[in-house]
Amino acid sequence: MVPTHLHAAAADGDAAGRPPDTWPQFLQTFRAPTGRLPAPWDDLFGPIRAGIIDDLLVVGQIGQSLDGRIATASGHSKYVNGPAGLTHLHRLRALVDAVVIGVGTALADDPQLTVRRVTGPNPARVILDPRGRLPGSARVFANDGVCRLLLTAQGTQAPAPPGVEVVALPAASGHISPPTILAALAERGLQRVLIEGGAETVSRFLIAGCLDRLHVLVAPIILGAGQASLVLPPIQRADEAVRIPVRSIQLDGDLLLDCDLSAQRVPVGRAKTST
Ligand SMILES: NC(=O)c1ccc[n+]([C@@H]2O[C@H](COP(=O)([O-])OP(=O)(O)OC[C@H]3O[C@@H](n4cnc5c(N)ncnc54)[C@H](OP(=O)(O)O)[C@@H]3O)[C@@H](O)[C@H]2O)c1
Repeated sequence: MVPTHLHAAAADGDAAGRPPDTWPQFLQTFRAPTGRLPAPWDDLFGPIRAGIIDDLLVVGQIGQSLDGRIATASGHSKYVNGPAGLTHLHRLRALVDAVVIGVGTALADDPQLTVRRVTGPNPARVILDPRGRLPGSARVFANDGVCRLLLTAQGTQAPAPPGVEVVALPAASGHISPPTILAALAERGLQRVLIEGGAETVSRFLIAGCLDRLHVLVAPIILGAGQASLVLPPIQRADEAVRIPVRSIQLDGDLLLDCDLSAQRVPVGRAKTST
């Protein structure tokens, strides 16, 4: 069973009788090119170790209510998920090379995108801001030694704080295609990527077939109104909907739905030469 507590026991257990914390060992093995991943983490995070389709691995995450909303009508989204869901998000951050958010999330939440709830390295921070709307004071730009990328549309003047790399990418009607985004990240050695939000950003990657997996963290709450977790083109009939292989894992109060999107994933990076 996956530990969901915030403060884990030491590597060899502790006086309170808590089992040994195998997360640090898992983290080390996960990043090595080979080596069997230790239980219980292999089952949950093994599928995001390496891409099946190409040499990139892209995982989306979305934390939502029972009625499929990620934020209230006023845009408030803190505390949708409980502590175990948040810890899971921090574990995902610790496992990837880069975490990507849209400027809507950066403006609404001013997140740090660091790993604070578990042991692990901070990923590179990538902000999709085609029109250069994010102020330099945003916390994602904090100079903490981590690579920070501001992705804008070509032709946009986007002044960024020192140390933040501005990457101007071709855009059609302000939209940068997810394969273009992933290629820019891969060029910088960022191959395992978390698309953390918000709804529009994750939805665009999903529509483009650029997610290998999607982790949906369902909280046992009903918001009643507010922003939908996914915004996709409409279909006519329910039986036209794509059926996705999904595993469910209980994380204390939250339910994690691990969706396998490999059947829809389009190749973006270098084709796999071996599995
Ligand atoms: N519950 C959760 O898991 C979770 C996670 C993250 C955020 N949130 C919540 O989600 C809300 C924000 O979500 P959102 O859907 O409004 O915004 P968002 O996805 O964070 O940002 C959307 C904006 O980012 C830019 N963008 C994203 N993808 C792009 C692409 N491929 N090409 C060009 N530009 C791109 C666009 O900026 P322009 O508008 O400048 O064109 C777009 O309007 C907030 O309320 C936040 O609290 C919840």
